[in-house]
Amino acid sequence: MSGGTEWWRHAVIYEIYVRSFQDSNGDGIGDLKGITQRLDHLQQLGVDALWLTPFFPSPNADFGYDVSDYCDVAPEYGTLADWDELVAEAGRRGMRLLVDFVMNHSSDQHAWFRAARSSREHPMRDWYVWRDGQPDGRPPTNWDSIFGGPAWTYDAPTGQWYYHAFLPEQPDINWHHPALREAMYDVARFWLGRGAAGFRLDATAHLFEDPAWPHDPDPAGGAGVGQKAYNANRPENHAVLRELRQLTDGYDGARVLLGESTIDHLPGLLQAYGAAGDEMQLPMNFMLGRLTQLDAARLKHHLDAAHHEIAGRGHTPVFFFGNHDQHRPWSRFGAAARDDAERDAIARLTSALLLTQPGTVLLYYGEEIGLADLPDSELAAAPLGPQRPRADDRDRCRTPMPWSAGPGAGFSSGTPWLPAGKRAATRHVEQQEAETGSLLHWTRRLLALRRSHPVLRAGRYLPLSSSHPSVLAYAVALPDGQAVLVALNCSAAAVSTRLDGAVALPGCDALLLASDDTVGLLTSAGLKLGAWGVLVASLRQR
Ligand code: NOJ
Ligand code: CA
Repeated sequence: MSGGTEWWRHAVIYEIYVRSFQDSNGDGIGDLKGITQRLDHLQQLGVDALWLTPFFPSPNADFGYDVSDYCDVAPEYGTLADWDELVAEAGRRGMRLLVDFVMNHSSDQHAWFRAARSSREHPMRDWYVWRDGQPDGRPPTNWDSIFGGPAWTYDAPTGQWYYHAFLPEQPDINWHHPALREAMYDVARFWLGRGAAGFRLDATAHLFEDPAWPHDPDPAGGAGVGQKAYNANRPENHAVLRELRQLTDGYDGARVLLGESTIDHLPGLLQAYGAAGDEMQLPMNFMLGRLTQLDAARLKHHLDAAHHEIAGRGHTPVFFFGNHDQHRPWSRFGAAARDDAERDAIARLTSALLLTQPGTVLLYYGEEIGLADLPDSELAAAPLGPQRPRADDRDRCRTPMPWSAGPGAGFSSGTPWLPAGKRAATRHVEQQEAETGSLLHWTRRLLALRRSHPVLRAGRYLPLSSSHPSVLAYAVALPDGQAVLVALNCSAAAVSTRLDGAVALPGCDALLLASDDTVGLLTSAGLKLGAWGVLVASLRQR
């Protein structure tokens, strides 16, 4: 393992969509044993930890984000023994595992919810959020759910409504209830005791609702359905996250809380670390993570803010572009590109940007080879069946990992639950392994640089201004004098630029990584970068 203390401050965490990474038994569904079989790929890539999307028993109304038993493995994903083996084998290779903890809601098929809905008198009734409807028969409030439709579902046998921030099959649990709270903490203890290095916390913004249940004059408007003052980032969240942090801190090995903190403003994101840094260590920065365009000024704005406001206060900023809910960065940032070669060039730039940030970086499986979204026409034609009970637009970014050519893309000897897509025939790990100029080799080189140059993961970020509007540039420096310059041309035209910083730049020493041979070192005359050019160079020590 990479150091016992606070390893997470400079980690690269690789998200695995378990259903789609590797199938080990030919049923077309990725599983835990499959991940174990592919650990060598991840070790060679050089990541520090793996975040696994939910692999617990689930009716799959939201592919595992509707959990019907928090302390077991779904048969389609394997067994608890498979989990134990994965922990051991990953540990042998220096990698840790994070479990996805779905804290806001369970499945409506969870034994707790079945008990809760069995009668108003059941002792577990208040483990969920029940309210009477309005006198005219309408739901308790006019709030919408984040997945569309009302946030309330009527339970006829007991004559009350239950609240769900997401699907009706995902009833919100009631964190006010002490016994429920303890039961959820027992879930955390279960996985920590079984070798989890910590948790990715699902939907942390939504644990509580405004107890006044206010009427919303514009339910679909304002900051958006998931960002209302009554349903997101309530002050009550903090006590729960503090308690969970105390619980995880009680275990050895620097366990960590990585949060899905869908907050769209910096002061809110700062609060997610806790007033005394005593809540989540790693709330994700969605302001950067949801960008859809490579606009150098906007990128600079978000990076400067994250480093200044978050790292500047001693917290660890968390950077990512891809996850299982949004368009893949290769497709998103490459939407207007002429061809795949240009999309690859853009992907080189975005991965260089991520992997040269001091702090913690998340990579989503397949990003190392520039995996694309499944095109709309292929998504629309993807069949439903027992392995894929419902269609989800987000499936476009959840396709099986293409390991090699052939019908199952090296992912499965059977029929994959979701097609790997036509592109998988020619773009896969084996092919990129063979080409030294591929994205796979580029990503590995970036991760290797991050390991060999501590300044790239633990340095202080120094903003630079560029005379050319398309160039994003920054330096990172350590007190011992090590410093690295990163310059990224966010445009398809070759550019020349001058760079300025708060401190004078001493000039480049050695090139560490360049996207192509037109990239030159910084001289007194400035810097030249080709289309989507990337320069990473060490700076002379003063
Ligand atoms: C966020 C998860 O990332 C997403 O996939 C899921 O649908 C919702 N939370 C609800 O659990
Ligand atoms: Ca399988």
